[in-house]
Amino acid sequence: MHTPTHSPAGPRSLEGRSTLVTGGASGIGAAVTALFVERGARVVVVDLQQEAGEALAREHGDAVVFVHGDVSDRAVADAAVATAVARFGALDVLVNNASVSRQKPFEEQTDDDWRLAMDTGLYATRNFMLAAFPALIESGHASVVNFGSGAGLNGQPNQASYAAAKEAIRGLSRVTANEWAPHGIRVNVVCPMALTEGVARWAEARPEQYARSAAAVPLGRFGDPARDVAPVVAFLAGDDSRYMTGQTVMADGGSVKLR
Ligand SMILES: NC(=O)c1ccc[n+]([C@@H]2O[C@H](COP(=O)([O-])OP(=O)(O)OC[C@H]3O[C@@H](n4cnc5c(N)ncnc54)[C@H](O)[C@@H]3O)[C@@H](O)[C@H]2O)c1
Repeated sequence: MHTPTHSPAGPRSLEGRSTLVTGGASGIGAAVTALFVERGARVVVVDLQQEAGEALAREHGDAVVFVHGDVSDRAVADAAVATAVARFGALDVLVNNASVSRQKPFEEQTDDDWRLAMDTGLYATRNFMLAAFPALIESGHASVVNFGSGAGLNGQPNQASYAAAKEAIRGLSRVTANEWAPHGIRVNVVCPMALTEGVARWAEARPEQYARSAAAVPLGRFGDPARDVAPVVAFLAGDDSRYMTGQTVMADGGSVKLR
């Protein structure tokens, strides 16, 4: 059994770690990228948004490398992992954050809608985990953070394909947590609730649903990507959570209480 060493907690808790964040050009992924850099990590960001990704890399200098591509393409996952290993000498942390979906009633969701949710959610997560596995085995501090959603846990209306993809990611994470534990690789899931641009678009499209959701949050608001969600991802990514694997952690203001 692999026994990891422990780096001290604190403001530089990810010092020297090589990390990869999908969908890191905006939203929660960008907040995670910025916090990882602040805590001493270097980050490969993979995103479809070329301009935003390149701007992020310029902003952070040597600490961030941008790879332009679609996470549902296995070749992009292979290239991104190879970039992390070539530039940073290793890969310690994989954050599967990117995903997109279309919200409609189940009967109206097309095959294409389902493909979008599954390809960018479940299959992208699978692609990057498979691509990263050989490097993660070598890490000694390996952590995979996948993204679920309260929409899956609660059965949020209009989100059938998305909820299905997110719950599949939780299942995959539990299985790989068990299978990869002997290799010293932890796999956990975070379910965030944060006011990103994506959520702002949803709020605009479905204002009543958004108002109901915000009012129902025990802590009374949608979270802030940088202050409420990114620190939870950093915790799961680093050694402070080294005795946790296979878990789903809710960063959602208390909306869902898992038992
Ligand atoms: N924001 C929330 O409240 C909330 C709630 C539950 C779950 N989540 C989950 O958290 C994660 C991040 O959410 P967010 O709100 O920041 O999303 P977002 O839509 O704001 O950002 C997603 C990022 O991924 C990128 N991206 C999308 N499709 C891609 C693709 N095919 N290839 C490469 N990059 C791609 C986008 O360009 C963007 O930078 C997602 O997995 C989402 O499902 C978010």
